[in-house]
Amino acid sequence: MNYRHAFHAGNFADIVKHAAVLAVLERLTGAKGPLSVIDTHAGRGLYDLAGADARRSGEAREGILRLMDEAAAPAAYGPLKAAVRELNGAGPVRRYPGSPWLIARALRPGDSYLGCELNPEEHGALRAALGDRRGVETLRADGFAEAPVRCPARGAALVLIDPPFEKPDDYRRIVETVRAVRARNAAAVVAIWLPLKDLETFDAFLRDLEDAEPGPVLVAETRMRPLSDPMKMNGCAMVFVNAPAGLEADLADICAWPAKAQGEGGQGKVWRL
Ligand SMILES: C[S@@+](CC[C@H](N)C(=O)[O-])C[C@H]1O[C@@H](n2cnc3c(N)ncnc32)[C@H](O)[C@@H]1O
Repeated sequence: MNYRHAFHAGNFADIVKHAAVLAVLERLTGAKGPLSVIDTHAGRGLYDLAGADARRSGEAREGILRLMDEAAAPAAYGPLKAAVRELNGAGPVRRYPGSPWLIARALRPGDSYLGCELNPEEHGALRAALGDRRGVETLRADGFAEAPVRCPARGAALVLIDPPFEKPDDYRRIVETVRAVRARNAAAVVAIWLPLKDLETFDAFLRDLEDAEPGPVLVAETRMRPLSDPMKMNGCAMVFVNAPAGLEADLADICAWPAKAQGEGGQGKVWRL
C-alpha cells in the first residue's frame, strides 16, 4: 500500500469528486428519514496543502487553489468552496478537506457515517480529523468487504467508492461491491470515482458494471484533454447508481469547469448508460 492521497489532495479530480458528492448529499439530506453514508476508501480526512507531499506534486494549484480564486466558478462548486473557507478561515487556503470531513459536516442529527481506511497511519489521522462527532464511525478495514455488510437493508443510503487504483482488481471489486450493495438495498445510491486514462479501460469497466445489472447509471466525465496518452491521467469520471433526481445540470457544470479552465481541449460530459 504505497498510495498517499496527500499528493493529490485538492487536485482537479478531487474537487470534481467532492463537489459531486456534496451535490448528491444536498438532495439526500433534503429528503425525510435518516441517511447512512459508507465511504469505502476514506483517506485521512484532512490534508495539509503546505506539507511536503502536496508541495512536491503541486496538484492543488490547478484544482482547489484556482477554484477558490475564481469568483465566476459555477454555483455547483459553492458548497465545496464554503466548506474550504470554513476550514481555513479568512486566511490563505492551506488545509483541504477529504470526503470524510465533508460528508460528516453535511449530515443531519440522526444520519450516520462510516469511513473505512486500511492504512494504519491514514486511519489514525482520519480518527483525529473527525474527532468524536455523533453518528460518525471509522474502521481500519477493507471498505469493499464492509460496504455490503454495513449498508442498511432499508432506507436511504449512500456508498462512496474511491479506491487508489493501485491494484488491477480494483475495477472488478467495485463491480462486485455494487452488486452486493444492491442485493442488500436496491435503493442505495452508489457513487464511484474513476481515473480516465484510456477509453478501453473505462469502457470495459462500464460493460462489466452493466452486466451486473446495476439499475439506473449516470456517468459524469471530466476530460482534461483528449485521451491519447494512456500513461497520463487525462481526466476522471464519477459514475452513479440510483443518482437522485435533478443532478445532471450540477454535474455538467462541475465537470465542465476544470476541463475548460485548464484549456487543453478538454470537456465535461454527463450521460446515462
Ligand atoms: C483515493 S484515497 C481516498 C480519498 C478520499 N475518499 C477522499 O475523497 O478524501 C484512497 C484511500 O484508500 C485506502 N485504501 C486502499 N485500499 C483500501 C481498502 N481495500 N479498503 C479501505 N481503504 C483502502 C488508501 O490507503 C487511501 O487512503
